[in-house]
Amino acid sequence: MAEHATLTVGNRSFDLGMIDGTTGPAVVDVRKLYAEADIFTFDPGFTSTAACESKITYIDGDAGVLLHRGYPIAQLAEHSTFLEVCYLLLNGELPTADEFADFEKTITYHTMIHAQFDRFFGGFRSDAHPMAIMTGAVGALSAFYHDSINVDDPEQRKISAHRLIAKMPTIAARAFKYSVGQPFVTPRNDMTYAENFLRMSFSVPAEDWKSNPILTRAMDRIFILHADHEQNASTSTVRLAGSSGANPFACIAAGIACLWGPSHGGANEEALMMLNEIGTVDRIPEYIQGVKDRKYRLMGFGHRVYKNYDPRATVMQKTCHEVLAEIGNADDPLLKVAMELEKIALNDPYFVDRKLFPNVDFYSGITLKAMGFPTTMFTALFALARTVGWISQWKEMFEDPQRKIGRPRQLYTGPLARDYVPLEARG
Ligand code: ACO
Repeated sequence: MAEHATLTVGNRSFDLGMIDGTTGPAVVDVRKLYAEADIFTFDPGFTSTAACESKITYIDGDAGVLLHRGYPIAQLAEHSTFLEVCYLLLNGELPTADEFADFEKTITYHTMIHAQFDRFFGGFRSDAHPMAIMTGAVGALSAFYHDSINVDDPEQRKISAHRLIAKMPTIAARAFKYSVGQPFVTPRNDMTYAENFLRMSFSVPAEDWKSNPILTRAMDRIFILHADHEQNASTSTVRLAGSSGANPFACIAAGIACLWGPSHGGANEEALMMLNEIGTVDRIPEYIQGVKDRKYRLMGFGHRVYKNYDPRATVMQKTCHEVLAEIGNADDPLLKVAMELEKIALNDPYFVDRKLFPNVDFYSGITLKAMGFPTTMFTALFALARTVGWISQWKEMFEDPQRKIGRPRQLYTGPLARDYVPLEARG
């Protein structure tokens, strides 16, 4: 166990402390480096920089391990429920039966949104992307729930966390309904979280809606798989926004905006578009060649942290098979393309050498499409599920006595000071 590190710059030498986590690489403590040595570290993309301390989620990217509060993701996906995982992420321990009953009731009774809020949706064009609606609508929650935006009050922080987890399915389902021109469906208190969301998404007034336990379980599992993923881009965005004391609804809206990008949550939409574009197994070699020629990337492959199989992808692949079998589409040509593509890529030196493996998005698109969601909803579903991770990390930040406003430094490479030249004198 290293106790200190030494940084030598020319003939100057600085002793830096080392900090050990519970597991994972030790970190060099550079907090005083600027004050003591007038030196910054340079790390665009944060590939070697820990921006916070956290007890929530641990990833060992080389071993393909993902733990929430110490529990392996595969065990949670197999034996737990999304709401139980929410409790775990927020509070640090699995709930007792009484604690879970209380929590489930609280979330269930916060699922409705203010009646005036529904008018907000009408301001969007009918072809608006659900993520555009989600970004705006979640930010707008801060205009409706004034009694839970004092970030210095732990009780208000808890209430806003519960409100966000509870209302996200209602908002996401409304974004979907709005985009297809169907009436909004009110949440029900006698249904589970996933079942309620599926009903709000797919029931129509013209007929009775029947719950399907296999699809409900698949939805719940997809939510579990996306619940948290330590300091990824959107979570870091939420923390950075929150570090200024911004209210939780605004911070989660910032996280949603970041998640939308194709390198992050937008990848599941792009992965399905890619499978559609390939279309048939015989076109895979040509497509792979295009990847090697750097014309495009293989979407749903590769990860900044996982240099091994993404453990979420294993569960997602199984869920995908279960859903397709249930809806009688086990021979979906897209699934065939996906499985063959995966097989080829896992054996091709281009992907093997770069340690590129399928990530959670590779099979989630086919699964969600089979369940009836259009591609534009994929990232919105991811945002729904990730809300608990974002808000747990945000809450943890406020409980951390070391909290400071986030303020990265820069390596300036622009011009030196120069005098302003009036317009008429500029050549
Ligand atoms: N297809 C083809 N080549 C790839 C891919 C890919 N999907 N991903 C990385 N590479 C290659 C790069 O071209 C690079 O090759 P080089 O060293 O010869 O130049 C090498 O692998 C390293 O790539 P980087 O971009 O430096 O890796 P980084 O860690 O920055 O990127 C990322 C991670 C953004 C996820 C990347 O793998 C990617 O773009 N994947 C496709 C998009 C995707 O599926 N995103 C979802 C991520 S999971 C999530 O957000 C839930």
